[in-house]
Amino acid sequence: MTSGRSFYITTPIYYPSDLPHIGHGYTTVAVDTLARWHRQAGDDTWMLTGTDEHGQKMLRAAAANNVTPQEWVDKLVTESWFPLLETLDVANDDFIRTTQPRHEERVQQFVQALFDRGYIYAGEYEALYCVGCEEFKPEAEIVDGTGPFEGLKVCAIHSKPLELLQEKNYFFKLSEFQDRLLELYKTEPDFVRPESARNEVVSFVRSGLKDLSISRSAFDWGITVPWDSSHVIYVWVDALLNYATAVGYGNDPEQFARRWPAFHVVGKDILRFHAVIWPAMLMAAGLDVPRGVFAHGWLLVGGEKMSKSKLTGIAPTEITDVFGSDAYRFYFLSAIAFGQDGSFSWEDLSARYQAELANGFGNLASRSVAMIEKYFDGVVPSAGAYAEVDLAIQKTVADAAAAADAAVERFRIDEAIAAIWTIVDALNGYITENEPWALAKDETQRERLGTVLYTAAEGLRALAVLLSPVMPSSTEKLWSALGAAEGLGPLVDQPLREAGEWGALSAGAKVTVLTPLFPRVEQA
Ligand code: ME8
Ligand code: MG
Repeated sequence: MTSGRSFYITTPIYYPSDLPHIGHGYTTVAVDTLARWHRQAGDDTWMLTGTDEHGQKMLRAAAANNVTPQEWVDKLVTESWFPLLETLDVANDDFIRTTQPRHEERVQQFVQALFDRGYIYAGEYEALYCVGCEEFKPEAEIVDGTGPFEGLKVCAIHSKPLELLQEKNYFFKLSEFQDRLLELYKTEPDFVRPESARNEVVSFVRSGLKDLSISRSAFDWGITVPWDSSHVIYVWVDALLNYATAVGYGNDPEQFARRWPAFHVVGKDILRFHAVIWPAMLMAAGLDVPRGVFAHGWLLVGGEKMSKSKLTGIAPTEITDVFGSDAYRFYFLSAIAFGQDGSFSWEDLSARYQAELANGFGNLASRSVAMIEKYFDGVVPSAGAYAEVDLAIQKTVADAAAAADAAVERFRIDEAIAAIWTIVDALNGYITENEPWALAKDETQRERLGTVLYTAAEGLRALAVLLSPVMPSSTEKLWSALGAAEGLGPLVDQPLREAGEWGALSAGAKVTVLTPLFPRVEQA
């Protein structure tokens, strides 16, 4: 299954000091779905996620809780961040923590290499720093404070006061990479997606790049600069390197050659780090730049970017406890155009759960299986001669499978799901129109009844395969109800790019009763 081309995909590594909210969950399930799709299609897939554990934000949070920073991050990662992956049914291949020796040693190696190549120098620095962003803020993101922060300069993202820092720092010669970066965006128009993100990055880089401060000496919660132990490496340089250190940069050339370069999926808040600073760092080290950076939009709650610091954070478990992990995954991935902002509301979630999952997909599955039970003693009938209406379903399935794979290639999970949903809608219409319950009353229509129910079952086979990256748990249930495993093997082994080929499910498969895939929910 892993003979195909390499597909290495990452989430951002999250700051563990915030508890996981639906925004982190959104990025993570999107990346997991893309990874599952490629894995099931036979690509040599690797999915990485993790936590970003150094920096001033973490140090202060630990101090406020009277524990060492290491104790603080250990507790949060164990109690909150590993469980998030269970909650959302994520099949990551690795989880990197920036406090792991495998990371720390190789970060030092990388930074030393940039130093040796002449891309790092010592200088003086004075600028406004946002601890929330862990970033010296550019002019455009500094605004006047209001309310309690009247008269102060605050961060446009966090609305919290900036701190004036004055230090001796080491600098990375980012300014030298302006032309090479612009050339990269030009020759590889898909390097930054979507289009809006690409435009933003291009105009940012065109306006000129300043060298980047890459060390801090005022505190020590970080990775020591190898040639100057009074400095630690800037947390963003440390963090970005996770994508390389996790796949063997600096110690396992074979693994690194097999996996690198990666696709990065990030929220648009951290686009510039990934699409400007990171490729420049890689160029300076003589390594390949990423295959691409995809920036998705923000989840908005009440019209504002949802965030823990603004107290609009919603924990993923609030949703999964009521609706289940598949509904969580389906909802965020289908309801929001990937790349644009999307508003979350409980009303919208409930309505889509009911209409699309319970009444649409779930009901289609239950009633098809129930009719095979009832009219054919639970054995999938063989199809007789196909009529035009049946062939139309076969075409819908083939077209949907091709369109979905093409959409996934473009990272448009929402479009992939929309394409797959044409099968759900077509099959529901097909059953209503062909009235198997009426055919069942007429012995002369026995063969026709078989054709109709085979068509429904085989359509469900395709749906289970195509939807398994999005909804691994309910499709698994459906797979077993269809009795498909016996003839076809495990669901996760079904070749995704052949899902649209008609006739994979054999007549004679033994179906079993299907409890509702998406049961009615009682909402408080
Ligand atoms: O920035 N809507 O970590 P972080 C959608 N450690 N996505 C959201 C979101 C929202 N309202 N809020 C957060 C960091 N996210 C760094 C990253 S990577 C080398 C270092 C998601 O914990 C989105 O993916 O602040 C965003 O980019 C990320 O969480 C920020 O996570
Ligand atoms: Mg953040």
